[in-house]
Amino acid sequence: MRIKRSNALIVLLENDQIVFHNFRVQQTFSANPTALEILRRLGSWTDIEALSGLLPGYSRESIDSSVDRLKELGAIIVEDSEAADREDAFEQSWLWGPFTAAFHFGGRTGDYLAAEAADSLLVQQAKYLPSPPLFTRNTHPGTDVVLPVRESAAEPFRTMARRRTMRRLRDEPMTVAALADCFQFSMAITDMLDDPEIVDLPLKMTPSGGGRNPYEAYVCVRNVTGVPPGVYHYSAMEHTLGAVKPGPPPAFPVLLAGQTWTEKAAAVIFLVANFDRAMWKYHQPAAYNATLIEAGHIAQNIMLAATTHDLVADPVGAMTIEAIEAALGVGGVTQAVIYALVLGVPDES
Ligand SMILES: Cc1cc2nc3c(=O)[nH]c(=O)nc-3n(C[C@H](O)[C@H](O)[C@H](O)COP(=O)(O)O)c2cc1C
Repeated sequence: MRIKRSNALIVLLENDQIVFHNFRVQQTFSANPTALEILRRLGSWTDIEALSGLLPGYSRESIDSSVDRLKELGAIIVEDSEAADREDAFEQSWLWGPFTAAFHFGGRTGDYLAAEAADSLLVQQAKYLPSPPLFTRNTHPGTDVVLPVRESAAEPFRTMARRRTMRRLRDEPMTVAALADCFQFSMAITDMLDDPEIVDLPLKMTPSGGGRNPYEAYVCVRNVTGVPPGVYHYSAMEHTLGAVKPGPPPAFPVLLAGQTWTEKAAAVIFLVANFDRAMWKYHQPAAYNATLIEAGHIAQNIMLAATTHDLVADPVGAMTIEAIEAALGVGGVTQAVIYALVLGVPDES
């Protein structure tokens, strides 16, 4: 049997300990000198029988028991296993280095507290650790330039000013026309920039780093007149919804980290990043940041389109990634759901 160390290991020094973190399987463990030495030697596929020859100062028993433990922790990978396939996929497709990988994969799972529990913790925290100020004033009246304030706002300012996150939703449908506008004014391809030598670049109403357009949008429809319940992919080129899975989608709180206020929403749009599109052009890790920023541009236009229809498109970052990716049929090393917009009819009573 051949083994090697996982390519998802980050080593940290904490107090007097050497701590390993595997960002793919979310395991953190401290290593004794034997384990450390074993991992150091296992940079490439190595026959397990040959390992004791590489580690002359260590007994066969201590090597075997460390290897077993490190396998359990996902730090050592066995050749021809599913884990080895995942390692290969990562090695071949993630071009942005270990730090963005640790940030990306390490930040994808997380336990979210219910809103009330989170609030009461913050009430306690504020007592001994006041929040930093949430805005910065200019304090030089002599030199500060006083800007004119627009009194009567015409469009698009009026819609921009009306946008609000409202979580009290009515169990009422939205129209297909409103859903269509949310997509047309954020994601639809409106033009192409010809580039016969590299690749033609799709242009949209929202900007995209290098015109790489890494995002695809999906929508889970629960209550939209004119669109049967189901999971759909939005085609930015044709402006169509393609059925991914017909029938009622999973309950929205299941997809959105238990947020019960989402259950009456009419639909939820998910923005899914295809990092390979950006990686192909930009090999530097900073392109990861640019890709995330882009979701904000798209989301803002969706929110404004929804506001125009007196609907909400509430932005949501707290997501149950695995459940969403299973529902949409997306995922893997270079594809990830990044942002959700909860569409619905606000209850303003
Ligand atoms: C990136 C991002 C993630 C957010 N995630 C959530 C979320 O998971 N749940 C939620 O209820 N609100 C979420 N919000 C909404 C904010 O709480 C809301 O924007 C904020 O309270 C300000 O209110 P406003 O949108 O009406 O200006 C998110 C907003 C942003 C920008």
